[in-house]
Amino acid sequence: MLRSLSKLSMTVICLCVPAIALTCCTGYKSDNKNFIQDNIDNAAAQYTLQIKAIEKKGGLLNPKTTDSLGNVRYIPPEDWCSGFFPGSMWLLNELTGNQKWLELARIYTEALDTVQYLTWHHDVGFIIGCSYLNGYRLNDEYDYGSVIIQAAKSLITRYRPRAGVIQSWDTNKGWQATKGWKCPVIIDNMMNLELLFEATRISGDSTFHKIAVNHANKTMANHFRANHSCYHVVDYDPKTGKVLHKQTAQGYSDESSWARGQAWAIYGFTMSYRYTHDERYLKIAEGVCNYIFTNKNMPADLVPYWDYDAPDIPDEPRDVSAAACTASALYELSTYVPGRNYKQLADSIMHSLASPAYRAKTGTNGNFILMHGVGSKPHNSEVDVPLNYADYYFLEALMRKKNMEQNNKDKIRQSIDGTAK
Ligand code: GLY
Repeated sequence: MLRSLSKLSMTVICLCVPAIALTCCTGYKSDNKNFIQDNIDNAAAQYTLQIKAIEKKGGLLNPKTTDSLGNVRYIPPEDWCSGFFPGSMWLLNELTGNQKWLELARIYTEALDTVQYLTWHHDVGFIIGCSYLNGYRLNDEYDYGSVIIQAAKSLITRYRPRAGVIQSWDTNKGWQATKGWKCPVIIDNMMNLELLFEATRISGDSTFHKIAVNHANKTMANHFRANHSCYHVVDYDPKTGKVLHKQTAQGYSDESSWARGQAWAIYGFTMSYRYTHDERYLKIAEGVCNYIFTNKNMPADLVPYWDYDAPDIPDEPRDVSAAACTASALYELSTYVPGRNYKQLADSIMHSLASPAYRAKTGTNGNFILMHGVGSKPHNSEVDVPLNYADYYFLEALMRKKNMEQNNKDKIRQSIDGTAK
């Protein structure tokens, strides 16, 4: 079954390349250094104001988004988004070379110290990955290794060996408790595998890597539709491994394609290829790319609506976080699949995001970089707002673009996984 799915992917992708190329040509302008420098300067200015606002309030606050009145909303360390603000500091340090960001990155990262022991949701991967792991690989913070390994140990407490997956959410908490799920796995969970792959590299203990591979393989087998889009939630029986439900939580409907979910899939499988060289993972990432870039509801500027099947398109909110995550993933994918236009697509997305339609004026937008993100429309939560993870993936994409265009081969690898060090 998998082999035939993979063959189908190849055929469809090859046939559709011209369509992708066409899409990409509509928004892409020739690149220049000014684009990168302008975006670095803008991000540094916004985040300098963000830090000043935090200092004025006192304490180490962690900004995520804004509320309906435009006030910045701060989050505790256990929130799935707490790693992105420290992560952006590491990226700003890398992009600007200004020591001020290094000091801030350390302070905001180390404020998340306790999360290494968090076992009640899977997002320890996002949190520690964006904060401690970025410090480790971008700035040689080798003493962070023990935190990374402990966080990986916490994450694998959620591994259900009979199903071969890491359980994303507990089923006795919040709105998840109303769903009747036994072992829900969300596509977002692919992002958390990076922590496990890195924990093996750092510790030499292959347990983490093996669990990550099992999880990726099960996700590859069960999360994707024939058209290469992915479900948001797949629920397993943890005793038998049987798939019980394929549903959504943050998308429009169970059979719709939630935009950020597609982005997590492209990023997650591209990243998993980095550590495994399993070609099937590349095919999955390319299949989802084919799905989104040939989708009739993908806007010309390549910043998607929050769900590709949202009912009132074009009167639906866009989601910059899906666009930024996709752009960052496409830069990496372009290094594994030469000859396709993945870098041009990423460049087109970046030019759209950096335009006045999405990039906020300095001192506005709660001092976040990008406007128009969507957290969860079905929950009427964080709709058409700035999101710290949209900013984070925008900065990561900018760093990857910069290093690729400066043809700095060491930096290209380092900006992806630190292996040049
Ligand atoms: N991982 C949660 C989300 O993407 O909203």
